[in-house]
Amino acid sequence: MELHLKDKVAVVTGASKGIGLAVVEKLAREGVKVVAGSRTSTPELDALAAGHDVTFVPVDLSTTEGAEALIQQAVERHQRLDIPVNNVGAAEPRESFLKVDDAAWQRIFDLTFFSAVRTSRAALPHLIAAGDAAIVNISSINARLPFPMVVDYSAAKAALTNLNKSLSEEFAPQGVRVNAIAPGPVRTPFWTAPGGFADATAEAAGTTAQEALDVVVPQSMGITSGRISEAHEVADLTLFLASPVAANITGTETLIDGGQTKTL
Ligand SMILES: NC(=O)c1ccc[n+]([C@@H]2O[C@H](COP(=O)([O-])OP(=O)(O)OC[C@H]3O[C@@H](n4cnc5c(N)ncnc54)[C@H](OP(=O)(O)O)[C@@H]3O)[C@@H](O)[C@H]2O)c1
Repeated sequence: MELHLKDKVAVVTGASKGIGLAVVEKLAREGVKVVAGSRTSTPELDALAAGHDVTFVPVDLSTTEGAEALIQQAVERHQRLDIPVNNVGAAEPRESFLKVDDAAWQRIFDLTFFSAVRTSRAALPHLIAAGDAAIVNISSINARLPFPMVVDYSAAKAALTNLNKSLSEEFAPQGVRVNAIAPGPVRTPFWTAPGGFADATAEAAGTTAQEALDVVVPQSMGITSGRISEAHEVADLTLFLASPVAANITGTETLIDGGQTKTL
């Protein structure tokens, strides 16, 4: 399918690893000019920047200044902006709601919710000027399926999904579509980093991190397809929603969870 994305300008938050990196790669291969924000780069992102029109911008996206600077640098470099992908977000495994203090709630909300508020606010005047623009928000099944183990993250993603709808209502008449993606578990450093959710699951199940991701997580979470998602699959969906092929799709939240969500 021809996505008609060539020469558009995109910003991807949380771009150095996982889903963000996969989105940068696929956008770059479609001829999109990509501005990629995260605190640090990786060899994989460096390689994309060497071979494509990909610019790495080191920013802390948990701050207002970081979010605004990323958008500003994208517009300064390319004189326009068409596609912000609000991907950055993080969770920390929680033992109990009673042990999550205000600082922890604020940390998770800053990165998972307010980063999208701030980048969207900075980007929207440029998106309206560009016309035919699209925001893609990477939410989570936890927006509608709260887990006590990620109580604060679930609430932040619910806020993001809610914001997604408000923005789509306000800005569709001005040529900006706004859509969200709600992944179930995806094989990224979010799970696979040392001490991450795969290690925690493996320890509880008395197995290896690999086995935890390939068997324990799909079985215990009721993933009908029998496997978790891959980052490139979420990236494909992101590109579709960002592209003019999805020109009449706005205000949606699309699941990619192998059938984990059982409700309609
Ligand atoms: N993986 C899953 O199972 C899953 C499921 C549902 C939803 N999601 C959502 O998908 C999105 C991406 O997740 P992922 O699994 O790809 O995450 P990941 O593998 O942990 O990657 C996170 C990315 O965000 C960057 N980042 C972290 N803190 C940052 C900060 N303060 N400022 C700027 N960049 C920062 C990281 O780079 P630096 O550390 O260098 O900054 C990295 O590039 C998140 O919103 C997540 O909630 C993931």
